[in-house]
Amino acid sequence: MANKLRLEGKVAVITGAASGIGEATARLFVEHGARVVIADIQDELGLQVVASIGTDKASYRHCDVTDEKQVEETVAYAVEKYGTLDIMFSNVGTLNFCSVLDMDMTAFDKTMAVNVRGTALAVKHAARVMVAKQVRGSIICNASIESILAGAASLAYVASKHAVVGIVKAAARELGLHGVRVNGVSPYGIATPLVCKAYGCDDAASLEAGISGNGHLKGVTLSTEHIAQAALFLASDESAYISGHNLAVDGGLSSMLKLNY
Ligand SMILES: NC(=O)c1ccc[n+]([C@@H]2O[C@H](COP(=O)([O-])OP(=O)(O)OC[C@H]3O[C@@H](n4cnc5c(N)ncnc54)[C@H](O)[C@@H]3O)[C@@H](O)[C@H]2O)c1
Repeated sequence: MANKLRLEGKVAVITGAASGIGEATARLFVEHGARVVIADIQDELGLQVVASIGTDKASYRHCDVTDEKQVEETVAYAVEKYGTLDIMFSNVGTLNFCSVLDMDMTAFDKTMAVNVRGTALAVKHAARVMVAKQVRGSIICNASIESILAGAASLAYVASKHAVVGIVKAAARELGLHGVRVNGVSPYGIATPLVCKAYGCDDAASLEAGISGNGHLKGVTLSTEHIAQAALFLASDESAYISGHNLAVDGGLSSMLKLNY
């Protein structure tokens, strides 16, 4: 079982895969036999990730997920290069902190554009190809523990991630008719560039220790690889009857009260 390639012959597009969770997932998907299109706006970083994975297994495509044409062209590129599309991991997100009283509506609109519109576009264009090609595909949307609870991000981020779960449910309902599954994955905190920047912290190790300290599950520090493993499960045939689900990878934090005894 440990040596089984769980995505052999599958083709995936991963948005925001030049860094963090997306990058870790691209590496894991390739290890499991998939060919992956890394879609991002950080071209240099994206090309470096592809070079380190191997240009025979991965390729890079500039794609701003808020731009419908770029999302559509990225999906078309994957199909043209690799022949089909089995997996879309809509992973891009943007995060900020500000109080409700000082809410900056430009930042609010940007959060909604990237997190909600970007997710909806990835779902739409992946689904169009999967349905047309009669592929029983898997679409995974990166939400957040903040899609279940509020507490560590701005109103805009919390609202946008709740909306991502709405997209998952609505799309799963409709696309299930075509055999396409749609699920969410909801991580707790990891000191990726997104989080370090939003916290204004350049010491990832101490931020990570703080995040871990607030978790319920002791003795393990959440990493990008843990989220990649959850995405691998949702992408693979092992989750063949799971759709419309929001898989929390949070050590139980969204299920339990935090009491000091
Ligand atoms: N790190 C965490 O603690 C955490 C927790 C819960 C959810 N998430 C979610 O995980 C996802 C990935 O975040 P990460 O932590 O790996 O951050 P990251 O900063 O390491 O990666 C995000 C990537 O998205 C890209 N990106 C940003 N805007 C884009 C756009 N408009 N179009 C295309 N690409 C764009 C960035 O260039 C970057 O490579 C996000 O949706 C985030 O909300 C992260």
